[in-house]
Amino acid sequence: MLTSLSFTLSLALLAIQIEAATYHVSDSISGTGFLSAFTHQAIADPTHGRVNYLSQADALAKNITYANGNTFRIQADSTTVLSASGPGRNSARIMSNNQYSTHVVIMDIRHMPEGCSTWPAAWEVGDNWPNEGEVDIIEGVNGVGVNQATLHTGAGCTMPSSSAQTGTTVGTDCNANDNGNAGCGVTCNKGNSFASSFNNNGGGWYAMERTSSYINVWFWPRNDGSVPSQVSNAASSIDTSTWGTPFANFPNSQCNLASEFGPNNIVINLTFCGDWAGAVFASQGCGSDCASFVNNNPAAFQKAYWDFASLNVYE
Ligand SMILES: *[C@@H]1O[C@H](CO)[C@@H](O)[C@H](O)[C@H]1NC(C)=O
Ligand SMILES: *[C@@H]1O[C@H](CO)[C@@H](O)[C@H](O)[C@H]1NC(C)=O
Repeated sequence: MLTSLSFTLSLALLAIQIEAATYHVSDSISGTGFLSAFTHQAIADPTHGRVNYLSQADALAKNITYANGNTFRIQADSTTVLSASGPGRNSARIMSNNQYSTHVVIMDIRHMPEGCSTWPAAWEVGDNWPNEGEVDIIEGVNGVGVNQATLHTGAGCTMPSSSAQTGTTVGTDCNANDNGNAGCGVTCNKGNSFASSFNNNGGGWYAMERTSSYINVWFWPRNDGSVPSQVSNAASSIDTSTWGTPFANFPNSQCNLASEFGPNNIVINLTFCGDWAGAVFASQGCGSDCASFVNNNPAAFQKAYWDFASLNVYE
């Protein structure tokens, strides 16, 4: 009796665990699909970058946003010398029309912006920042170093140094009001996870899973034999429990993820200089004045573009 009860219980627990890791595709976006699934935000850069974010109509007309076949690009203006007193360099910031809670997003990316002054990001954020959370999936500046995944939340959310990840914890306090909004971050241990080394390798796949008990982020370089076929083939159903150890694992042991995170939108942006890239422009070997660099060197932005093969969301 007892044995049979505990057997039934373990089956039920197993079913819950399997349930939690299995998802079905809800949004499958590529090429011109990005133009209807995302809205261009022609806003002033909240991080004070030397950028001019265009509307979708302007971005398409100026070829800053380009969609064709299975290619979707956001590419910086790489031809115009800017007046120091005029607007910043043309670029785009796009936000998904749909919001997601428990979900997985898989991004198949061929190229990301690289070079001095660039600050690209692919991330998620709620309506009432920071109280509905922020998950930075891909972020870095000036084309330097490896990728970092970071959470930014309201008060009362910290992370242990997780052993369930292959990356390196670089911050444990997720509260956006602490430490100048550094957040709780984890750097990826793969050298080809960011900028030119990512691009020279043909890019790869980033995936993020958010549940009420953990947030995980994975990266597989383009020719990595360990990429799950569910990811590389964009399967209609996925089971994240078969994917191996993520590079970043944010558990809920010291953070109530269910209350710190609300429905989030996916945002893809490319700014220049600003609060982060500008602040470390000189120390990262890019020169003395970030804004002048952006104004006067359009050709330096020929590799400052995102190229997405697809972005799929599973719920
Ligand atoms: C771009 O993305 C990052 C997310 O890491 C965010 O902190 C920043 O505010 C964004 N910048 C713009 C200009 O949207
Ligand atoms: C627009 O951008 C695409 C992708 O980079 C490029 O192939 C195409 O030649 C560009 N079109 C024009 C008119 O510059």
